[in-house]
Amino acid sequence: MQERLKQILEESKKRLQEAASVQEAEEVRIKVLGKKGQLTEILRSMGQLDPEQRKELGLAANQVRADIEKMLDATFEQLKSKAREAKFKEEKIDVTEPGKIYKLGTKHPVTITIEEISRVFKSMGFTLTEGPEVETVFNNFDALNAGPNHPARDWTDTFYVNEDVLLRTQTSPVQVRTLLNQKPPIRVFAPGRCFRCDTPDATHSPMFHQVEGLVVDEGITMADLKGVLDSFAKQMFGSDVKTKFRPHHFPFTEPSAEMDVSCFKCGGKGCRVCKGSGWIEILGCGMVHPNVLKVGGIDTEKYTGFAFGMGVERIAMLKYGIDDIRLLYENDMRFIEQFR
Ligand code: DAH
Repeated sequence: MQERLKQILEESKKRLQEAASVQEAEEVRIKVLGKKGQLTEILRSMGQLDPEQRKELGLAANQVRADIEKMLDATFEQLKSKAREAKFKEEKIDVTEPGKIYKLGTKHPVTITIEEISRVFKSMGFTLTEGPEVETVFNNFDALNAGPNHPARDWTDTFYVNEDVLLRTQTSPVQVRTLLNQKPPIRVFAPGRCFRCDTPDATHSPMFHQVEGLVVDEGITMADLKGVLDSFAKQMFGSDVKTKFRPHHFPFTEPSAEMDVSCFKCGGKGCRVCKGSGWIEILGCGMVHPNVLKVGGIDTEKYTGFAFGMGVERIAMLKYGIDDIRLLYENDMRFIEQFR
């Protein structure tokens, strides 16, 4: 028996020295100290021995067990730290390697243009406001002095949701919402999407953007309209552009006008951008029609106002020399990235 113990101890020592992994060391532990292990069997079989022998063997067996346990602990510790080291080595990162390059997005030219227009009007004390893209027929037409039989209802091909609801054809209904919700003095601008049932071509898109403006106060005159819009044109297109107001017609303004700016490409001599005329039409405007002010319950004896509306895509195309509106909606990054 003593011999056998010695053999177990030697064998365990050898196998633990050779163990290359925690797993292998664990196998040794099970083989020797496990429930059916070699040493466990010896200890179990000792019951048959006489007391004298049992005591002697018991001492020896316990000593061997203690020795093996000690070796096991040391081996486990050693193997674990080895494994840890290997893992660190494997996970080591090379800080000199070039990083992944993430492509940053860029602002869309329509967004850039809206932001520029907004900056100019904010600097003149206008407040940004907004209205919904799905509007009532009342706000889009009736309240803007374009009643059921008004020819203005034909100027645009409208996307109707139902008899009373449509996709707004212009940002002008934001004027109505503002007049209903605010009291003068009013000075707001409203950028947003509009929709018209047009077949797409180089200058038409069924979805496009406008920026609307509305000023209502005591003593507002056409001179205020001209001053504000001339200042806008100079801030937007350059301090030497000239402006020209041509009579026009809109149902919600009286008198109405369109504003042209002298061509910022050729300075007015005539070129491709201004189609040889030296002038470029930029926006529609006018003095707010009393019928529109009345919808908002505004005293038309006391207050007057002016309004304007411009197409964002048109301005972006003129500013950036884009000759087809459809380019703005194709989202080809090679195109969009040019306008950083
Ligand atoms: N809503 C007009 C359009 O879509 C543009 C416009 C013209 C707006 C004159 C105005 C205005 O506020 O006063 O063509």
